[in-house]
Amino acid sequence: MSNIPNWKGLVLPHILSLQAYSSARDEFSGDAKVFLDANENPFDEEQQNWNRYPDPLQKKIKNQLAKIKGIPSENMFLGNGSDEAIDLLFRIFCKAGESNVITCPPTYGMYKVSSSIHNVENIEVALSEDFQLEINSILKNANEQSKMLFICSPNNPTGNSLRKDDIQKLLESFKGIVVIDEAYIDFSAQNSWIHELSKYPNLVVLQTLSKAWGLASARLGIAFANQELIAILNKVKPPYNISGPSQRLVSTSLKNIEAFEQQINTILSERDKLYQKLQDIPGVKRVFPTDSNFILVQLNDARAVYQKLIAKGIVVRDRSNVKLCNNCLRVTVGTESQNESLILALYEIVEKV
Ligand SMILES: Cc1ncc(COP(=O)(O)O)c(C=O)c1O
Repeated sequence: MSNIPNWKGLVLPHILSLQAYSSARDEFSGDAKVFLDANENPFDEEQQNWNRYPDPLQKKIKNQLAKIKGIPSENMFLGNGSDEAIDLLFRIFCKAGESNVITCPPTYGMYKVSSSIHNVENIEVALSEDFQLEINSILKNANEQSKMLFICSPNNPTGNSLRKDDIQKLLESFKGIVVIDEAYIDFSAQNSWIHELSKYPNLVVLQTLSKAWGLASARLGIAFANQELIAILNKVKPPYNISGPSQRLVSTSLKNIEAFEQQINTILSERDKLYQKLQDIPGVKRVFPTDSNFILVQLNDARAVYQKLIAKGIVVRDRSNVKLCNNCLRVTVGTESQNESLILALYEIVEKV
């Protein structure tokens, strides 16, 4: 069990007492003959309801996700990408110039950017050489002002999952909110932490439809948390944060679970092939184990290889300036032919670098 006696004590007082904006669609959401309540344009040229504001609480998508994830919709917040949820968590828990958060680099860059935006100190406790959490160091570095701890599992850019026991210890000992970012969970052999929400009131799990669901363009991130925190997130968000076209696109895609599962299976088998082939290339120093849809690869001169790949029309991510990722490129698993193009290009380039 979490030893946080009262997670609500971490919420900034002005947020706790905030009176949420009440939108027209909050005040009336049923069917009616004539809508004259939201100052919308009455002409619906395409007969698609584009002239109408969307559902502020995205009930249809949440009900679909509740069935897929096995989690009540009351435990879900939907954001304009997970990045919106990250931003709102800072607004809810962190006081500018006073609070701090803990992150564990190398990791997803938005936690640090968001802390800078909110003028919140970002205490970095690096992962170990094998890319696992240094739990003693995290707890030693935490202080009374440490409001959130960001854990990314599977981790970006390293690709590996973080040990369950370590995360559990942190959930039980860290005296703030523990945010577990599971953007890549659908590619992972590990179970999601969403099933532990009732055990840990200080737990927030982030997921996204931008990766396995193939909906990066729709911008839809999910935060799973206890119902009271979800209500606070809903109070702080902009009223219509998920656009109508996005809601419709997402709702249609969520009906096609078969395609989703098929794509994941294909990506995973392509990942295994790519992993093997990368290891065979002379000049590739190390291919790191992955639980995600990308692979971290260490070379002799990552920057030079990156530039030469670009010249051949292939774009990967240069992570060589990132802590513990010296001379590393991060490669997303593509289609079979995209992966083959990469491998061919690497054979041509790497031997010469
Ligand atoms: C770990 C992690 N979290 C979140 C995101 C962003 O997700 P979204 O597209 O939902 O904002 C990314 C994107 O690369 C990511 O790697």
